[in-house]
Amino acid sequence: MIWIEEPLVFDADFHRDPYRVYDRLRGQEPVQRVKVSSRGHHTWLITGYAQARAALTDPRLSRDTRRFGHLFGDRRDIAPALRDSMLATDPPDHTRLRRLAAPAFTASAVDRLRPRIQQITDQLLGAIAPKGAADLINEFAVPLPVTVICELLGVPEHDRPQLRRWSNALFTTADAATRDQAAHHINDTMAVLVAHRLHRFETGAAHQGEDGDLLDALITARANGDLLNQQELVSLAVLLLIAGHETTTNLIGNAVLALLLHPAQHTAIADHTVSDSDGLVPAIEEFLRYDSPLGIATVRFTTCPVAFGPVTIPAEQIVMISLGAANRDPAHFTDPSALDLTRTRPRQGHLAFGHGPHYCLGSGLARTEAHIALTGILRHLPHLHLDTRPQQLAWRPSRMMRGLLTLPVRWQPHT
Ligand code: HEM
Repeated sequence: MIWIEEPLVFDADFHRDPYRVYDRLRGQEPVQRVKVSSRGHHTWLITGYAQARAALTDPRLSRDTRRFGHLFGDRRDIAPALRDSMLATDPPDHTRLRRLAAPAFTASAVDRLRPRIQQITDQLLGAIAPKGAADLINEFAVPLPVTVICELLGVPEHDRPQLRRWSNALFTTADAATRDQAAHHINDTMAVLVAHRLHRFETGAAHQGEDGDLLDALITARANGDLLNQQELVSLAVLLLIAGHETTTNLIGNAVLALLLHPAQHTAIADHTVSDSDGLVPAIEEFLRYDSPLGIATVRFTTCPVAFGPVTIPAEQIVMISLGAANRDPAHFTDPSALDLTRTRPRQGHLAFGHGPHYCLGSGLARTEAHIALTGILRHLPHLHLDTRPQQLAWRPSRMMRGLLTLPVRWQPHT
């Protein structure tokens, strides 16, 4: 076994440039045991593309946090609200939960949401465009996906600001008690919502097939005569709420930052997007690869010893798979640290949405939201530039998400 005693991976400087750390680790050994806390905790970390891709489809690596959550001890490395969700189960449970939810995320279901996403985008940009300056994260990249997913789930408007704050706390607060509290609040709010909807169906106040929202569709979703039970519905609603906005916020924020730091590509794509936004479709894939929204790491647990080339991870270990590091692996992508919006994709593409059974269910929705959002920004915020020094940007101190806390920008308002 290769055992490299490392300095702390997630040190105070880590989030400013995680790729510097990940490149160094991958160069030593793409699968290795690393130190993740000053109290001496160690975890396995995968930084290579081939190894990450293999790990994401290997049934010997579990996602079941009910079975393996104890491995974290008193450290709460994953969002507690996600512990009972589809993302925290293995087949066959996972297969059933995913099959019931999947119809809500087909290409045609996402297409039906397009006009409303466009309307929300126009409203948000319409409010900030005349100002000439804004924090693009909190005034645009946060409210857009939050509004979309809350409307989809039928979350009442008065619950949204609180849900947003609690969800944010899950990924930014270091304090485990605060995270647990936030998770419970989210769970309780969604449980009340689900109970209310189920009651409407049970009392005949709502009918199957009625033109309701996503929650109604999930309540009536059936596969082989199966229905989601109340707890499963709550878990799914919580998962969608959280997965549905933090990541999309990061995609929009990271993409805009990448453009601002690459002025020639920014100008080229902005000029092109004025008349035709098709060029943004491959560009969004490059943004996803270059600075992946769920780029710090996702988690698995070994059910038995698993060999990756010369390295064998023993059974019952936490394995962090860094999708962001995998997407910058020079063994798979040419010149991976360069942003290249015209990059031709290798046959096996980026891993920003994961791979295998847990591949992101909302990838179509996320791509659509990002496309509409970036088109709007490029068209309505001309001569956009950063209003702070890049070194001063504040990143989320998360071990999953790669995203900015704020993005101060300026532009020249249309006269
Ligand atoms: C799973 C990324 C947006 C719903 C995942 C996974 C990744 C991911 C990497 C797999 C994690 C793993 O295997 O451990 C992203 C990114 C997004 C995004 C980068 C935005 C840019 C969304 C949206 C929704 C969503 C908008 C829904 C509204 C889900 C669900 C799963 C998932 C339900 C679990 C799937 C399963 O366990 O089978 N996402 N996601 N995601 N995502 Fe997304």
